[in-house]
Amino acid sequence: MNPITPAKGLKGVVVDTTKLCLIDAERGVLVYRGYDIHDLATHSNFEEVAYLLLYSKLPMRKEYECFCEQLRQNRSVPDVVVEIIERIKDAPPMDVLRTAVSALGAIDPDSGDNSSEATLRKGIKLIAQLPTIVATHERLRRGLKPVEPNPKLSHAANFLYMMRGKPPTEEEAKAIDLDLLLHAEHSSNASAFAVRVTASTLADIHAAIVAGIAALKGPLHGGAAEAVADMALEVGSPERAYEYVREKLARKERIMGFGHRVYRTEDPRARHMRELAKVLSEKSGDKRIFETLLAIEEAMKPLQSKGIYVNVDFYCGCIYYFLGIPKDMYVCMFALGRIVGWVAHALEQYNDNVLIRPLLHYDGPTNLRYIPMDER
Ligand code: CMC
Repeated sequence: MNPITPAKGLKGVVVDTTKLCLIDAERGVLVYRGYDIHDLATHSNFEEVAYLLLYSKLPMRKEYECFCEQLRQNRSVPDVVVEIIERIKDAPPMDVLRTAVSALGAIDPDSGDNSSEATLRKGIKLIAQLPTIVATHERLRRGLKPVEPNPKLSHAANFLYMMRGKPPTEEEAKAIDLDLLLHAEHSSNASAFAVRVTASTLADIHAAIVAGIAALKGPLHGGAAEAVADMALEVGSPERAYEYVREKLARKERIMGFGHRVYRTEDPRARHMRELAKVLSEKSGDKRIFETLLAIEEAMKPLQSKGIYVNVDFYCGCIYYFLGIPKDMYVCMFALGRIVGWVAHALEQYNDNVLIRPLLHYDGPTNLRYIPMDER
């Protein structure tokens, strides 16, 4: 009998401690550095939450203004990176983002410096540059000239401005701001763990962020929002939702935007996304997508007894749709928020580093003898 039971998917394994974020799986509570996500979502904004996660405290006004200025000053990306984006503009946005961050790392003069000061400086620069990369790619692939960042606009408003070429309304900017805030950090999710694994080898922060972007891409993580949008279009109307869910579950397929490795109740971020999706859909006069999503959520209620509830990604697509963000960019939107958590995780890992190197239990043959190629 095999005495070893592997912790497949590291389910339930506590690998380290963190001061970044607390998740209460049973009560559906999410706390960033001691502050409840509902409190932050109601009263704070992306820049302030980014400061909180990076510096472990809420900023005083002067510190906040300095931090916002630092973000504004670091928004542009070097010409060589814009050229690379242009050369690969037909690739999926997430691949372009990953490649552009890798290129930024290759040309960063501080690349080899993993001190806290240099890592924080490079991390803040990346937080500022990611929206520029995503917006620049979106414009180039549509045959449009990239738009220079506007220093008068907030992080969220400037992203929409660079993507569209005209400033967004206050409501649109607030929607993106809330979306980024809610995605900023979520403990040892797959992408943050990938960041920590990479940082634990003492590779630099750009390498760690590239690993995070790579891990976020998949449909079981950041790619779920796009899959939800595809599902909403396929279902088409609230009347079809019940049948769609029933058939899919009967085929043992998953409904995207539901379930979570940690939460056994509703993901606390979903409430804000649902409310925002409702407001935007009412405002647009086109309620079909939102009502279809509500109907899918209703049809999924029987799975609540198994701890499967709606997650943060379920209503994201609906919000992005009303903001005119193309479907294949949805996962990049997740990255624009989560970059803050990734940087904070890299800092935490470097500050108290132990190489992350778990074991795999070998389950293959032994004692095989090498046979020369021509004799096999
Ligand atoms: N639809 C239907 N059944 C589900 C779903 C779902 N979305 N999620 C889990 N289950 C079932 C699964 O089939 C399994 O059933 P059984 O025990 O009968 O075989 C049970 O729930 C446990 O599933 P699991 O895959 O062992 O659980 P996990 O912790 O490995 O999976 C998950 C977590 C997020 C990968 C999974 O819930 C899933 O695939 N969800 C859909 C993709 C999704 O929405 N991802 C975004 C997650 S939130 C944003 C983020 O942080 O990335």
